[in-house]
Amino acid sequence: AAHVESDLVNVLFTEAEIQAKVAEMAQRIEADYEGQELLLVGVLRGAVMVMADLARSMTRHVEMDWMAVSSYGSGTKSSGVVRILKDLDTDIAGRHVLVVDEIIDTGLTLSWLISNLSSRNPASVEIATLLRKPEALSMPVEPKYVGWDIPNEFVVGYGLDYQERYRNLRDIGTLAPHVYA
Ligand code: PRP
Ligand code: MG
Repeated sequence: AAHVESDLVNVLFTEAEIQAKVAEMAQRIEADYEGQELLLVGVLRGAVMVMADLARSMTRHVEMDWMAVSSYGSGTKSSGVVRILKDLDTDIAGRHVLVVDEIIDTGLTLSWLISNLSSRNPASVEIATLLRKPEALSMPVEPKYVGWDIPNEFVVGYGLDYQERYRNLRDIGTLAPHVYA
């Protein structure tokens, strides 16, 4: 496991495919928010890569801010409780907010985040996600921008981790079974 790429068993999306998809999403967003100020809110830590690439695919001005949230307890999200680890530095009242994340799995994170942000009276709040797992969705989340729908498989890379590793992979893929052993 010296080399991060050697543990991938199947590449779902290559770096080039991801870059093309992110650029396409950026174009749609630019068109939809034309003439309006836009604040991108990235969800730490997974969204770092897609935020950076999405923002740099745009030619317009955007502001960027970040939130970090976590489920109570350790890894499990079964409690359904989310808490804020790092809040926005920006007052979003009256602002057009686009929350950027790299994946919607159960939907818990973003359904909670959207209701939290909505209570701060933004002009609008929408979601852009690179990936979504429709089969895993258990909370009502309606992202305005979705890169790809994927099967309910554990994927890593491009911000997505397994035990904090593999976030720096440029591709997105599934891990070889020996990694979990
Ligand atoms: C992951 C991922 C999404 C969220 C999706 O983040 O980055 O933000 O889970 O899962 P959900 O739809 O079931 O809520 P995680 O909370 O693991 O933290 P991370 O971004 O720091 O990896
Ligand atoms: Mg995350």
